[in-house]
Amino acid sequence: MDNPQLFDNHGRELSYLRLAVTDRCNLRCTYCMPAEGINYLPERELLSWEEMFRLTRIMHEMGIKKVRITGGEPFVRNGLVEFLTELAGLSDLEICLTTNGVFIGDYIDTLQILGVRHINLSLDSLDRDRFHQITRRDDFAKVYENLICLIDAGFQVKINAVVMQGKNEEDIIALTEFARTHPVSVRFIEEMPFNGCGLVEEKLFWDHVRILERIRSQFPDLKARPFLFGETAKTYDIPGFKGNFGIIAAFSRTFCGTCNRIRLTAKGQVKTCLYDDGVFDLKAYLRGGVSDEEIKTQLMTLFKARSLDGFEAEKNRKGVITESMTTIGG
Ligand code: GTP
Ligand code: 5AD
Ligand code: SF4
Repeated sequence: MDNPQLFDNHGRELSYLRLAVTDRCNLRCTYCMPAEGINYLPERELLSWEEMFRLTRIMHEMGIKKVRITGGEPFVRNGLVEFLTELAGLSDLEICLTTNGVFIGDYIDTLQILGVRHINLSLDSLDRDRFHQITRRDDFAKVYENLICLIDAGFQVKINAVVMQGKNEEDIIALTEFARTHPVSVRFIEEMPFNGCGLVEEKLFWDHVRILERIRSQFPDLKARPFLFGETAKTYDIPGFKGNFGIIAAFSRTFCGTCNRIRLTAKGQVKTCLYDDGVFDLKAYLRGGVSDEEIKTQLMTLFKARSLDGFEAEKNRKGVITESMTTIGG
């Protein structure tokens, strides 16, 4: 059947796969990893490109219409371009990328040729020193240069900024201002406890309500857009701005009722919610020599047993959150 629709046990259409193609990253963002990094997995414990392509093709046949390539940092794994080229051959599959923006400059032409139009770029500060403190690397100039190149080349760019007390509060207004003169969506994200240490604040200071209050104090004319199915960001327009801004209540989890996402981690775990601890080892299953049909049946069983929301998924975990976002892909 052409373009089948896939639904979970709560009647939510599943149409979006987030595929983490590596657990490695060239940056060391404090909200994601400890300074020394994490223990990266050896290559054989990661899904190979062939395995990732097979699984994406199978899920596409089941009804997935959009794949977001994440990591770690996707561009640190050799073979990404060849993989994207293969994916581009799957008809009507939208390919999107989330990246830290350090290496993407060399691939702009290639991405355009492949039809990759949507790039989400992590940028938590417009100040070089604060960027350095947050990412523990001095790569601000490169990332900013690449951001401007992407915008100039006509990509649909979203900027991801995790808002952290004492680290980048000043950037809330500075980043919003960036959308005045650039056609981008700047999204402010609540910090989540996926930092590799499991340190969780009792109460999140910069939650979505406080972030909005801060922006509204400066831009009282902001106007909310209607919330679309499958989106995580609540988006706002400000009169006279080329771009817009959004707020992602990633920790408060206000958007689970319209969640259209499934995840595959770099080591081949299926996650039916960001907050679960992996519901199935698809890599082991695959390497056992199963058919496409068997994989589809197995996946369907998982999709029909999804948690209602991120709170239920978190409650059903075997232990508290200690993993790093670099192993999940966001
Ligand atoms: P698009 O809607 O496709 O543009 O993607 P996105 O904004 O969801 O993805 P991106 O990779 O840019 O992630 C932005 C932030 O949203 C990250 O902090 C993600 O961890 C978070 N996020 C993405 N999906 C979910 C989700 O399903 N639940 C929660 N709680 N957070 C999510
Ligand atoms: N909390 C919220 N967002 C996070 N990201 C990474 N770690 C965290 C965290 N602990 C975001 C990054 C990246 C996206 C994939 O996930 O900003 O853009
Ligand atoms: Fe979906 Fe879980 Fe995210 Fe909620 S927290 S939107 S259920 S992945």
